[in-house]
Parts: sequence; C-alpha cells; structure tokens
Amino acid sequence: MKRVKKAIIPAAGLGTRFLPATKAMPKEMLPIVDKPTIQYIVEEAIESGIEDIIIVTGKGKRAIEDHFDHAFELEQNLFHKGKIELLKKVQESSKMVDIHYIRQKEPKGLGHAVWCARNFIGNEPFAVLLGDDIVQAKTPCLKQLMEQYEKTKSSVIGVKPVPKNETHRYGIIKAKAASGRLYEVEHLVEKPEIEMAPSNLAIMGRYILSPEIFTFLAKKEIGAGGEIQLTDAIEQLSQIERVFAYHFEGTRYDVGEKLGFILTTIDFALKNSDLKRPLRDYLERVLSEEAAIDNL
Ligand code: G1P
Repeated sequence: MKRVKKAIIPAAGLGTRFLPATKAMPKEMLPIVDKPTIQYIVEEAIESGIEDIIIVTGKGKRAIEDHFDHAFELEQNLFHKGKIELLKKVQESSKMVDIHYIRQKEPKGLGHAVWCARNFIGNEPFAVLLGDDIVQAKTPCLKQLMEQYEKTKSSVIGVKPVPKNETHRYGIIKAKAASGRLYEVEHLVEKPEIEMAPSNLAIMGRYILSPEIFTFLAKKEIGAGGEIQLTDAIEQLSQIERVFAYHFEGTRYDVGEKLGFILTTIDFALKNSDLKRPLRDYLERVLSEEAAIDNL
C-alpha cells in the first residue's frame, strides 16, 4: 500500500464573500489573529506527515507564494533590531516543507482545481485540504484520516454532522454501514436541496483520495452551481472502489464566510495567552452594556 505523501491545497477561489478586502489580497492571506488562514492548513498537513504540498492558485495570488518564501529585507530588519522572536515567526513560514504552485487558469470549480494538480500527484494516493475549513484537534484532522486510510486502504473523507437546515451548504454523504466514527459511503451529493439531503453528514474539507479519481475528474462534468465538483467525481469513484467517511474529532471552524471568520478569530484570540484576559474583559463589558440596553 502506498503511503500518502502529497497534498493539494486549492486556493484559486475569488473570495467574493470578503470583497472588498479580497480585491487585491487573496482570501487565504486573511489572518486569524496573526497568521494567514492558509498557514494553519499548511501546518496541519505538515503535522500529519505530508512531505510535498502543491497549492493551486489563480490570478492575484502571488502574496501566498511570497508568504512561504524568504523575506530578506524584513528578516534583516528584525535581526538588526534584535527582534529575534518575531524573526523566528517570519522564518517559520519559509522553512516549511517543499511547496509547489500551479495555476488554475479559469475558476471552473473545486474538481477542476484538483485535476490541475494531476501531474504532480501521479499514481499515488494523496490528500486534499480546503482552506475554508480550519480544524483544531489533538491529533491533526488529516492525520486522523490517514490512520483510517491505513486501516481501510481506501479513500477517506472527513465528515461532521450539521443541522438539517445547513445541509444545502455542503457535500452530503449517504452511508451504507458504520463502525464507530467510520462510515462506508454509498452515495455523495453536492449541496442538495434541504429536503433531498440523504443524511446530515457533511464533507468538511479534508480528503484522502485514490489517484483513480483523476479518471472521473478528466471528464470535466459540470455539477452543482455550474462547476466541476470534486464530490461528483468521488460519487463516481465510489461506484468502482470503496470510499469511506470518517467523523473526525476536533473543532471545525468555517473561515470561508464572515460570521464564521469572526467567531474563529474570537475563539483563537481567547486561546492566546497575551490576548485572552483583555479580550474576555472587553467581551464581558460589551455584553453587559447590551443587556443593560435591552432592559431599558
Ligand atoms: C466545498 C465542497 C463541499 C464541502 C465544503 C466544505 O464546497 O465542494 O462538498 O462540503 O467545501 O467546506 P464550498 O464551500 O467550497 O462551496
């Protein structure tokens, strides 16, 4: 059985939900406290044992490449000022594993973005991590999936239950058998109408996939939202190979929409030793002032 060594991080989306902030800056560079969202994803991949990462970028995404490169002038400046802790932080992102880049020339959807990385992947199982989902867990989410991949020797998708009225925002799986947190997948459907959702188990942006998936992505069939969907290709894969879904442990944060982004920032700041006290004091004050207004 081949080990999972390579990961694809699609980062070519237009980031329209965050306009105008994303007009000249990739949404993947928006920071949660002091770290760009994409760095959390890259760190998870590395902590899970991934050795090579390919980021699928698009127009206006150069800042991502610069972020994971050396910043000579900045590093010199910090060094001369004796700001060694900050220097280490800046250097961390450039010392990470080998990161490669490929451009998705047209925004044709997630399935197409993954397909763009096919030559880099070759004939090996690989991981996909989506930047809109940050997961905080004792064992990194991708590592949990890798452990299941080693057991099942099959593709494994990370899932979590969501409220029924949110199923239309996700890829949803229908399981045929379950053993603890592991499900064998019978069907998958991308963003079904609420009443059509076959369950409430939603795909949460983490995948281990067999290279056979490229056979189906190559067909470039258009799916939900007029885009080439990864979920549709996995559905076809599941008809010829076993596909599993794993309800991973940990908290998943949705940083792909405004409210989720704000809540993630608050949560992460509350876990930061310098920020938690003043932030908690501030939140308590704001909430008690709101309560006072409500009682007027
Ligand atoms: C993508 C996938 C979807 C998955 C979701 C998780 O959708 O297509 O299956 O449930 O990510 O965040 P997107 O949110 O990019 O439209």
